[in-house]
Amino acid sequence: MSTEMANTDPEGIDGVRMTWNAWPRTKVEASKCVIPIAASISPIRPHPHIPNNPYAPLRCKTCSAVLNPFCRVDFSALIWICPFCFQRNHFPHHYSGISETNVPAELYPQYTTVEYAVPNPDTRLNPPQPVYVFVLDTCMIEEELKYAKLALQQALEFIPENALVGFVSFGTQVQVHELGYADISKVYVFQGSKEMTREDVLDQLGLLAGVANGRRMGGGPGFQKGVVQLQGQGFPNSGVSRFLLPASEGAYIIHSRLEELGVDLWPVAPGNRSLRCTGVALSVAAGLICACSPGTGGRIVALVGGPCTEGNGSIVSQDLSDPVRSHKDLDKDSALYFRKAVNFYEELSKQMVSQGHVLDLFASALDQVGVAEMKVIIERTGGLVVLSESFGHSVFKDSFKRVFENREDSLGLSYNGTLEMNCSKDIKIQGIIGPCTSLEKKGPAVASTTIGQGNTNAWKLCGLDNDTCLTVLFDISSSDKPDHSGNLNPQLYIQTLTSYQSIDGQSKLRVTTITRRWIEGSAVSEELMQGFDQETAAVVMARLTSYKMETEETFDATRWLDRNLIRLCSRFGDYRKDDPTSFSLNPNFSLFPQFMFNLRRSPFVQVFNNSPDETAYFRMMLNRESITNATVMIQPSLISYSFNSLPSPALLDVASISADRILLLDSYFSVVIFHGITVAQWRNMGYQNQPEHQAFSQLLQAPHDDAELIIRDRFPAPRLVVCDQHGSQARFLLAKLNPSATYNSDVGAGMDVIFTDDVNLQVFLEHLQRLAVQSS
Ligand SMILES: *[C@@H]1O[C@H](CO)[C@@H](O)[C@H](O)[C@H]1NC(C)=O
Ligand SMILES: *[C@@H]1O[C@H](CO)[C@@H](O)[C@H](O)[C@H]1NC(C)=O
Ligand SMILES: *[C@@H]1O[C@H](CO)[C@@H](O)[C@H](O)[C@H]1NC(C)=O
Ligand SMILES: *[C@@H]1O[C@H](CO)[C@@H](O)[C@H](O)[C@H]1NC(C)=O
Ligand SMILES: *[C@@H]1O[C@H](CO)[C@@H](O)[C@H](O)[C@H]1NC(C)=O
Ligand SMILES: *[C@@H]1O[C@H](CO)[C@@H](O)[C@H](O)[C@H]1NC(C)=O
Ligand SMILES: *[C@@H]1O[C@H](CO)[C@@H](O)[C@H](O)[C@H]1NC(C)=O
Ligand SMILES: [Zn+2]
Repeated sequence: MSTEMANTDPEGIDGVRMTWNAWPRTKVEASKCVIPIAASISPIRPHPHIPNNPYAPLRCKTCSAVLNPFCRVDFSALIWICPFCFQRNHFPHHYSGISETNVPAELYPQYTTVEYAVPNPDTRLNPPQPVYVFVLDTCMIEEELKYAKLALQQALEFIPENALVGFVSFGTQVQVHELGYADISKVYVFQGSKEMTREDVLDQLGLLAGVANGRRMGGGPGFQKGVVQLQGQGFPNSGVSRFLLPASEGAYIIHSRLEELGVDLWPVAPGNRSLRCTGVALSVAAGLICACSPGTGGRIVALVGGPCTEGNGSIVSQDLSDPVRSHKDLDKDSALYFRKAVNFYEELSKQMVSQGHVLDLFASALDQVGVAEMKVIIERTGGLVVLSESFGHSVFKDSFKRVFENREDSLGLSYNGTLEMNCSKDIKIQGIIGPCTSLEKKGPAVASTTIGQGNTNAWKLCGLDNDTCLTVLFDISSSDKPDHSGNLNPQLYIQTLTSYQSIDGQSKLRVTTITRRWIEGSAVSEELMQGFDQETAAVVMARLTSYKMETEETFDATRWLDRNLIRLCSRFGDYRKDDPTSFSLNPNFSLFPQFMFNLRRSPFVQVFNNSPDETAYFRMMLNRESITNATVMIQPSLISYSFNSLPSPALLDVASISADRILLLDSYFSVVIFHGITVAQWRNMGYQNQPEHQAFSQLLQAPHDDAELIIRDRFPAPRLVVCDQHGSQARFLLAKLNPSATYNSDVGAGMDVIFTDDVNLQVFLEHLQRLAVQSS
């Protein structure tokens, strides 16, 4: 990474962005700011200037905060004062050489983020081996299964040699493949209709200490030819190594098992869905992985091709005339299976989090597979999720490759993360929205009200990677009364400690200490306004809205967003009362209304245009991506290409469409190349192939090259749509554009709603101004 990049990088070395960068001092003042005080943190985002210290950090003896550049240091007395609790700490002997001119890296003012590579005596000789258990659905048509198997076989080649691999396939039943023998296929069969506790799984695999009985499993017609069914007596090579082998050997065996594997043979009557026991398959895999690797990082990588219809975790009946639940069903509370399936996955996520393991879901099907139900386990364990319509589609294929391929810009998958947070007095943590689980560790900085994963100042991140991002919501506890001690520190401090295991097995601890200014008094000050980060504010509002839509029964998202936007503009806008024409916004706020306009139209709020699976998928990505990336999800970017000018950003408006232009829309989940009608006609006539029309050929090619750049770096890979004006695929662009051409003058909104239907931006802003300047 170049230094130029680092300089324009809004997250800086700390990987932190806040809605407000200057904080009101009291609870009352904070609530007047309308947009909550929140930080988006990227716990292990790489940055070229983070020092790596090969020793353990010094900790405050009272509050256990780590030594950092904001500590006051008395070099002559060899004492440092903790900025969190003001404890005076002695430097230990090995720091005795320090002086003003010889300070350790962690005290350099620019090193607010430091990483410590802590040598772990337990793992120095045997670095922990990450474990991958692949779980493959076989209730698919031949062609889909072929694609899925091929992707798995390719992935196996990239698994680090020392990693352990295991393989589970499932249809109506679950098959755990024993890998101890290269030439005979042996599987343990679990019935999909039976609930499986961790102990049941271990028992039946013969892995429960002192248990050597085993039971006859399964029956039924679903077995592959040539499969030997073990009955559990006298296993030749007992123990975990029968199921999990180092990739150097196991990859080859799984590869050949995949060759033999056919589609599930359980009969499916016409008009019926396949009986697919995804939930039980995942709990069997979770049981297996826990026996094999207590305490080490492990992931279950599940490839699922349809809805669960058998046993725990079912989302729909076997009867095809019974549709999979829609948002309408969820809204009316008439989705019969939903609550039960979510509860099941919630329980399973507790088990997996306690083991420190991750679930990655690759769902590919035309129908829904239950991402909405599985969201809880993917998010709590910090797993990856990719949703596509086929295992043959590039969205799946490119994303899947990206997880395993050994590229320079690999995802940096890490394990066993723990995040702890310390704050200055008066700052309370309400919780975190994003891929983590509360460790329910109460401390002085824990707020009484909870949002997301709360009630704690420590969280588990079973799986995390370079891009993992979390939103921390804060509360201010102090009342209006001035501090009795009278010593008001103008700075506030927050420290995050993230310990994790990197892919190469190293134990690391990253410490980030951030400081911001408190703002005294209740006036709207320049400092407060300058500290408003409107992109972060928009993303935090999107995350909060999604969270509330999922957790609060009668939550009206549009009304809530509008009410807050009006309040924000009333408080921070510049205007004469009751004179809408006088209204203006400080530049730090000026983009925010448009962000809210697009958020109201986005799939995060307009859920009825999508399936619950898609909504869950979009929201998981919204919650775990950086602010810059999440902003694109809310407000897509549009670039225009035409003759005689460089590609340039265009307004997200139908007025940007023109017959002789090409548009490139990036809405994060899809990238659309849209040819104006004239461009499309020329292309159809083949002008680009004629030497005298080279410029046209270049014009056609440019957006493809730029789209390629976007797609290559993004995970999951976005869908590429190439379309022409007036073509059927053009809706992918039109749906994202401001409908300025269909001016809607029908004003029928209530006091705190700007508009309920799909108005254009101009009308939206006019109404906003009118409502913002109203004397209340
Ligand atoms: C996992 O993380 C916990 C908490 O940070 C730590 O105590 C444990 O040693 C870690 N396990 C491994 C195998 O690194
Ligand atoms: C088809 O589904 C119905 C329930 O919808 C079930 O009663 C029947 O047994 C199923 N047929 C087969 C062959 O699985
Ligand atoms: C699993 O299914 C069984 C039987 O259908 C049910 O009794 C049990 O409560 C389910 N378990 C969970 C965790 O939902
Ligand atoms: C992710 O992190 C790893 C380890 O720090 C690094 O090698 C890799 O280049 C990073 N990937 C990206 C895309 O930054
Ligand atoms: C700092 O964090 C540690 C570990 O989570 C906790 O024990 C301690 O109470 C915290 N101190 C303060 C002042 O929040
Ligand atoms: C607010 O605007 C000023 C002036 O344009 C800019 O320097 C500052 O970085 C902005 N604040 C934030 C948090 O973006
Ligand atoms: C954002 O997305 C881009 C690709 O679109 C990716 O390269 C980058 O790592 C993501 N994360 C951040 C923090 O920008
Ligand atoms: Zn302290």
